[in-house]
Amino acid sequence: MTQNYRITLLPGDGIGPEIIAVAVDVLKLIAKQHDLNFEFQEAPIGGAAIDLTGNPLPEETLQTCRNSDAVLLAAIGGYKWDNLPRHQRPETGLLGLRAGLGLFANLRPAKILPQLIDASSLKREVVEGVDIMVVRELTGGIYFGEPKGIFATETGEKRGVNTMAYTQSEIDRIGRVAFETARKRGSKLCSVDKANVLEVSQLWRDRIIALSAEYPDVELSHIYVDNAAMQLVRWPKQFDTIVTGNLFGDILSDAAAMLTGSIGMLPSASLGATGPGVYEPVHGSAPDIAGQDKANPLAQVLSAAMMLRYGLDQPAAAEKIEQAVLKVLDQGYRTGDIMSEGMKPVGCRAMGDVLLQALEQ
Ligand code: IPM
Ligand code: MG
Repeated sequence: MTQNYRITLLPGDGIGPEIIAVAVDVLKLIAKQHDLNFEFQEAPIGGAAIDLTGNPLPEETLQTCRNSDAVLLAAIGGYKWDNLPRHQRPETGLLGLRAGLGLFANLRPAKILPQLIDASSLKREVVEGVDIMVVRELTGGIYFGEPKGIFATETGEKRGVNTMAYTQSEIDRIGRVAFETARKRGSKLCSVDKANVLEVSQLWRDRIIALSAEYPDVELSHIYVDNAAMQLVRWPKQFDTIVTGNLFGDILSDAAAMLTGSIGMLPSASLGATGPGVYEPVHGSAPDIAGQDKANPLAQVLSAAMMLRYGLDQPAAAEKIEQAVLKVLDQGYRTGDIMSEGMKPVGCRAMGDVLLQALEQ
């Protein structure tokens, strides 16, 4: 029997519409091959939504997402909206989506593909075999803590404030996701904090240690965030699964991504306790190359694969897409961001075409 899924597409800004179009073509073909039916509905978010409605996350978009089985997001943001007040910024729409869907767990895999080792800025022996999963807390910490704002002090001087705060239950739920994730991988979990300075990190560490009693099969370690940044570029193979808070995870996941040569290759999944997850590339909207058919659609396509695996429980279809991506890389096709000598340069659309061919074979 044909499985029916409602998928909300959020193309967003910049290169978003180009890369999501490739992912949709891939999903349509995979649907035929695996007896699935996708009902796609598109909704505006970010700058595109600001232009249409004045709001980076219209209520209707959030409702459409809530009423779907999974959400495929491309990217948001661009110079055009950078100077608007914060509540009207594209980024605020993305944060609202995460909060509105309760997506507290962000899984960001950084796995080096043998085909792309030479695209990494680090030496081959350092990055060969890297396979890291960053589990980033996504709806708490300094991104959402109160008080926040720019206030006038008694002397009339301005003071900017954000608050890094985590409750015990917020730490426990992301900690559990991380231990479970580690268990399905190399069973090594490294928790990143700044417990030598921050109280919020001290609680983080205490809770992760308390939880570890439930996961005796997972080897737990702790590292300060500054050292984690250093170790990631020094010897990344020491890491298997990393768990950390919102801000540290934002920073470290970009660093981990770059180990693999291009942030243009990496998908992510944002999951809540219930309801649809959001699947999106780790990279941004790249306004400098938008509309020029230069973008790498592979992170978006791999995000669609993550959606099939984690959101729709269709691992075979996910696997098929991942294999097709490896195949086009084996065939030598490269967008500009992952180009190296002797390879075949292609644009976004052409990359999509060769992917479809790989899937047909
Ligand atoms: C990310 C991005 C976002 C974040 C921005 C666009 C709000 O950098 O998903 O990593 O900081 O979380
Ligand atoms: Mg980021």
